[in-house]
Amino acid sequence: MKKSLTLTVALLIYLPYLAADDNERVTPVRNEQYKEECGSCHFAYQPSLLPSRSWQRLMTQLEDHFGENAELEANTQKTLTDYLISRSANSSRDKLATKMMRRLAKNKIPLRITEMPYLKHEHDKIPDKMVTQNTEVKSLSYCDKCHTQAESGSYLEKDIRIPGYGQWEEKAEREESEKDDD
Ligand code: HEC
Ligand code: HEC
Repeated sequence: MKKSLTLTVALLIYLPYLAADDNERVTPVRNEQYKEECGSCHFAYQPSLLPSRSWQRLMTQLEDHFGENAELEANTQKTLTDYLISRSANSSRDKLATKMMRRLAKNKIPLRITEMPYLKHEHDKIPDKMVTQNTEVKSLSYCDKCHTQAESGSYLEKDIRIPGYGQWEEKAEREESEKDDD
């Protein structure tokens, strides 16, 4: 009796944290073929970060992929398209995906994850010197440069480290106190 009460109390205290974490986590990629074919120039983005209509379009224009040729053999292209669509933001149960979809207009087909309104908003306070002017990052497309656990599907704030600048949380606090000093 006493034991189960302790357990219930512990759960009640811990549950909200678990739920909050859930909002910043997506199902990780376990498809080795996808990692190999789509993870050589950049991190293999989780399929639930874009809606199926976006993946569909991206996968049909791979010969002109952001200035690169990422063309695949027809078989592979079909297999990977099926994989991406079956786990896309609108098919996935990931809470982060649901939140991202809610913010996306029905008529929009973004070809970039970084153009998803929810993520655009989440990133709009990061200064250019930490992203495009940071030679270790280059652009927001390289998620795993800053989200150190991106591969395991975690975008939690505690796992963010900006190359050359360190932990994001501490950095943000430091900037705030510097402002106060002025
Ligand atoms: C030959 C290199 C190369 C390969 C292979 C490649 N990509 Fe890319 N991809 C790029 C480049 C370059 C960008 C743009 C990065 C930038 O803007 O800094 C990009 C961007 C993207 C983006 C948009 C990221 C953002 O900014 O939100 C998605 C989505 C994407 N690729 C998916 C894929 C998929 C799916 C595959 C496998 C079919 C793939 N890529 C294979 C080079 C590649
Ligand atoms: C230059 C480093 C950097 C890169 C590259 C980057 N992010 Fe972020 N991201 C951040 C920072 C910093 C925050 C927190 C912003 C804040 O709290 O104001 C963040 C926030 C987020 C959040 C919200 C997490 C939360 O706390 O709710 C998600 C999800 C996310 N990023 C996903 C991505 C994805 C997906 C990519 C790649 C397409 C990416 N990020 C690329 C630095 C980066």
